[in-house]
Amino acid sequence: MDAIGNPTICRKKPCEAEDEECWPCQDLQCKPNVVCLPDFEEYAKKNMTKEIFDYYAGGSGTEQSVRDNQEAFKRIRLQSYILRDVSSRDISTTILGQKVPFPFAIAPTAMQKMAHPEGEVAMARAASAMGTGMVLSAWTTCTIEEVAAASGDGLRWFHVHIFRDRSITRKIIERAERAGYKAIFVSGDTPVLGRRLRALRSEFALPSKFRLQSFPKQLEIEDGADNDTFPQYVDTQIDDAVSWDDIEWVRSISSLPIVVKGILTAADAREAVSRGVAGICVSNHGGRQLDGVPASIDVLEEVVDAVRGSSIEVFFDGGIRSGNDVLKALALGARAAFIGRPALWALNYDGTAGVCKMLDILKKEFSVAMALTGSLSVADVTKDLLRRQIIYAKL
Ligand code: LAC
Repeated sequence: MDAIGNPTICRKKPCEAEDEECWPCQDLQCKPNVVCLPDFEEYAKKNMTKEIFDYYAGGSGTEQSVRDNQEAFKRIRLQSYILRDVSSRDISTTILGQKVPFPFAIAPTAMQKMAHPEGEVAMARAASAMGTGMVLSAWTTCTIEEVAAASGDGLRWFHVHIFRDRSITRKIIERAERAGYKAIFVSGDTPVLGRRLRALRSEFALPSKFRLQSFPKQLEIEDGADNDTFPQYVDTQIDDAVSWDDIEWVRSISSLPIVVKGILTAADAREAVSRGVAGICVSNHGGRQLDGVPASIDVLEEVVDAVRGSSIEVFFDGGIRSGNDVLKALALGARAAFIGRPALWALNYDGTAGVCKMLDILKKEFSVAMALTGSLSVADVTKDLLRRQIIYAKL
């Protein structure tokens, strides 16, 4: 085992190396072939420690909403349209005015060095190489500036919670703005942390060799938090007094567009519009906050309808595991989808190359789905492509 408990002896044939540097395994022969997003998860589940895998994979309470995020996609079916000459398909779009080659990007996820030694830097390199963007989480294990440098000219956005100490929130946002991040995503769904039972059971803590790099020194996780698990630590930093007025405060301290993340209702979507934000992200935080809320995809249409006529862009995350799922989210009105856990599994699989591979698979799947539904551009991806399963039909 290495310092954070990952296996250093390769247990997979054929290499059987006994090498301190053998994590994550660098020998591609040792890696299973991956052809779809769930393949990456299967790999990561075997390759990561249970504690780390559970931290990423887990949700709150019974994890009903975690499961439902994926299950709900299965209740929506696609309709194919034939003989439409799909030889010149354009799968590109824009996100907040920036051109992207396909309508998906990387969602913010915390502490990526637990998935791969290069962490957020490797993730950012992949997003940039594929021409899309990544939202960097404030709970990052690389510095804001390192990730900016790794992105090069690539698209990058920054994610924050409104921390209890507003001066820290402000400093982090200013730092991101200086480093060339193009928008601030603010999680609105985390006044307190959801009860994540897997993390509580394992008393999950950030392995001591890593640091939360965007916080000022006095707030680094080891200070005053030696005995805290990560959930306890997060609870000390986030603020249960956070309100819509804080969104306006973020607007007042930054010239960047603001995207409010965690919207699940029409009422909250309308409130976001009235607060002058540029975008919202329909998300149930990967099922990690309020267990029992609907799957993100099941409320997307209602939210889109509520903001119709405004200039706000509606983004989506939660349960996307294929290009067909991306197509469903777009058909229900999302401008673009964000990929969370599968990006972590791909990072664990092979760092930058793994994430590029995951994005490329998703791109190919999306392109095939466009062709088989007779769509020539993302503007053609509408509700006409969908059917919903009716579970209880009237007799
Ligand atoms: C999480 C928090 C930190 O979901 O946003 O892990």
